[in-house]
Amino acid sequence: MRPRRFLPTGPLRGRIRVPGDKSISHRSIMLGALAVGETRVTGLLEGEDVLATAAALRAMGASVERTGASDAGGEWSIHGVGVGALLQPEAPLDMGNSGTSTRLLMGLVASHPITASFVGDASLSKRPMGRVIDPLATMGASFEASEGGRLPLIVRGASPAVPISYRLPVASAQVKSAVLLAGLNTPGITTVIEPVPTRDHSERMLRGFGAELNVEIAADGTRIITLHGEAELKPQVIDVPGDPSSAAFFMVAALIVPGSEIVIENVGLNPTRAGLVTVLRQMGGRIEELNAREVGGEPVADLLVKHSALKGIEVDPALAPSMIDEFPALFVAASLAEGVTTTSGLDELRVKESDRLAVMAAALAAAGARIEEREDGLVITGTGGDPLAGTTGPIATHLDHRIAMSMAVAGLASRAGVEVDDTRPIATSFPVFETMLEGLTQ
Ligand code: S3P
Repeated sequence: MRPRRFLPTGPLRGRIRVPGDKSISHRSIMLGALAVGETRVTGLLEGEDVLATAAALRAMGASVERTGASDAGGEWSIHGVGVGALLQPEAPLDMGNSGTSTRLLMGLVASHPITASFVGDASLSKRPMGRVIDPLATMGASFEASEGGRLPLIVRGASPAVPISYRLPVASAQVKSAVLLAGLNTPGITTVIEPVPTRDHSERMLRGFGAELNVEIAADGTRIITLHGEAELKPQVIDVPGDPSSAAFFMVAALIVPGSEIVIENVGLNPTRAGLVTVLRQMGGRIEELNAREVGGEPVADLLVKHSALKGIEVDPALAPSMIDEFPALFVAASLAEGVTTTSGLDELRVKESDRLAVMAAALAAAGARIEEREDGLVITGTGGDPLAGTTGPIATHLDHRIAMSMAVAGLASRAGVEVDDTRPIATSFPVFETMLEGLTQ
């Protein structure tokens, strides 16, 4: 455990560049590992989750090496083995805290003639894997999972796997991606039907690597994604944009700490990820997009964020998939807004790195916020801009990086500060978070 009290601060001022997008970083390594030849990646997020993906693909035969670093993050070189040529790993694949590594790699293994076992930390070992086991078993893979379809588990890949048409029962980009990645080494056409759109990095990147992938949008908005299997992927040069999910903590910090004005450079604003910006603006947040451009096939801008008098709103549940990782940060913003913020349709938050509804409700209540926990969301009555009281003892983060960072931000806008029981999980997605925060508050 590495506890820390995050103390109230003066205005946040300055410019930062948040590290590379976690979703895109994972996928860069995975697709690079399946392309024959050298894929070069700049701006790769060097957090523990992504490093777990890198280690797993090395264990399955790819070369995944750091070649240097720049202001934009890690420079990496990946020499892939080709679709269908992943090797059987000798030891269990240690997924650490990373659900994305686990579910996407289960998809890759499922259509290769190999067996792999997956292990993870206490948080990951509680998370449901049945949602990927079900479709991958239909494709022919077999599984030995711990009780409740959890880690540790063993995947025996099918060769050849059987193409399926799968309608997603939960709005999950990880499940969608697991099926599509399995489809890469499956003869015929694999189809994923997505009633509610989720982040589309897999689709964009599979196309970028040369896979034949089509997306058809039905009249009711359902997305029908088809992928031609036995694909040959071509190596790419990828510049990873900054992670909007990491930028979220600084957006909220600048909005709630009086006098703040910051620029967050190079933030990915893919519409399937940008829900928080929409919601914070609806609450009265002053967020301007500067220098809008494209990086790595994704829309990107620098965000100018100024302290704002926020107002409570009813958050449209349809926006949830486009800000699914940002609710802990939003709950902090709502705690400082004037009036009531209502969120709903958030059942998925209960199966993230922690139960983010229960854990954030308890943490914010301990810091003096007024919170009502409902089955599928939180109802928060804000202070109208007055600082929260702060905590007397440590709040429990349950091995969840986003709880730790959100409550750190809450501490900045409190009287007594907020003590977080363990800051180590922050390294899974944002190793330089604390240094960046210090840089802005000096
Ligand atoms: C991710 C998808 C989301 C998100 C996670 C990353 C991805 O998970 O919460 O942090 O990279 O595909 P779900 O698919 O479980 O919603």
